[in-house]
Amino acid sequence: MIKIPKVIAHRGASGTAPENTLAAFSRAADLGATGVELDANITSDGIVVIIHDESVDRCSNGKGAVATKTFEQIRELDAGGWFSDEFIGERIPTLKEAIELIIRRGLFLNLEIKPSPGFERETAIKVAHDINEYWPANAPIIVSSFSETAIDVFHQTAPQIPCAIISDSVPENWREIAARYNCASIHLHYLAAKPDIVKEIKSAGYLVLVYTVDDPVIADNLYAIGVDGIFTNFPEKF
Ligand code: G3P
Ligand code: MG
Repeated sequence: MIKIPKVIAHRGASGTAPENTLAAFSRAADLGATGVELDANITSDGIVVIIHDESVDRCSNGKGAVATKTFEQIRELDAGGWFSDEFIGERIPTLKEAIELIIRRGLFLNLEIKPSPGFERETAIKVAHDINEYWPANAPIIVSSFSETAIDVFHQTAPQIPCAIISDSVPENWREIAARYNCASIHLHYLAAKPDIVKEIKSAGYLVLVYTVDDPVIADNLYAIGVDGIFTNFPEKF
């Protein structure tokens, strides 16, 4: 079974740096985190970029849907100033750039495929292409998504990579889905991680990772019932 860190920096060290930027991934490593999570989407011309929302409005100085912008248009945006002046000049990174940094810093990666609605297949294919091209064999990674279509397409295109399903609550058919897509883990909202279901998932041979936990006391309670790892915006607290 893949070994994963107990603490994974959610969108990088997103409590103290602009989420999903190279600065946030670097800061996570500086703060001692050994793994990061990021969200991957595609531009209108099919470049995989790291951004959580469907639009660029919240995390840049631009406006509009990611799916309608070319990579050149995305690249012009400032992705740091919305967070603080210290980060003015940060860009929305490509997956390739994020991978280079993550590998250089020796981090575990949880790549979440976060497609714009209607672009699940295209996004999964482009992500799988980049992973096949740039992710070194044997470096630790799990690729996850809320979208079963995205995981299905990704798994067909990069079958060597361990996957995970993400859900706010445990889906009834979790066993079937986990087996079908070579899942290493199941990612749950931390409130859904009740002792019985965590035990059941772990007895079936899967890891349980939970999001998003910024309180060390809550994290300790989750570890105590068998949760393997947490996603946090503040890795320095753990
Ligand atoms: O991958 C875990 C977590 O990031 C899922 O939720 O909305 O923060 O991407 P979200
Ligand atoms: Mg995410």
